[in-house]
Amino acid sequence: MSLIQPFKSEIDFATGDLSPQRATLRRRLSDMKLMYADRNEAARILSEEGDRLIYEVQGVELPEEEGQIPHCTTRILPGRVGDEYHMTKGHYHARREQGEVYFGLSGRGYLLLQTDSGQTSEIEMVAGSAAYVPPYWAHRTVNIGAEDFVFFSVWEARAGHDYGTIERDGFRMLVLLRDGQPTVVDNPKYV
Ligand SMILES: [Fe+2]
Repeated sequence: MSLIQPFKSEIDFATGDLSPQRATLRRRLSDMKLMYADRNEAARILSEEGDRLIYEVQGVELPEEEGQIPHCTTRILPGRVGDEYHMTKGHYHARREQGEVYFGLSGRGYLLLQTDSGQTSEIEMVAGSAAYVPPYWAHRTVNIGAEDFVFFSVWEARAGHDYGTIERDGFRMLVLLRDGQPTVVDNPKYV
């Protein structure tokens, strides 16, 4: 176990920016073009409008050791691909028995969750919402507002990330614009 000195980060709630600056992961439409329901629209945006930024993650990275507690901010930009709202890739934890806490900082979003056995849940998040992702639940976040949706998350270092299952099978639910409202619907293409 590494002995790390205590430290803090200052968080800008509107942007998710951390000070001091930390490693930033950016996901663009080209990274996720196969994850949106309307792949033709994703391809059209890429060719006609460019490779838009969908979300970015600023993380406090720590050794993947028992007891370490990494944490990060995520900012999802507002927008849609066709009718489908901007979202994160979504993942299970590689160690399924590890949970996570999400805390809303600004904007408005959905936290979508699902289990291997077919259970689903959706939690609306605003600034001040503290959501619990229990062990065994895959999780994806979606920006359903007109502003950036920004949240803070905290997990156990050994949890790891399994993105591959969602990349292969998709997520059970989609969040689409329907009758002027963000609406959670079953994903007809879910494997
Ligand atoms: Fe997670």
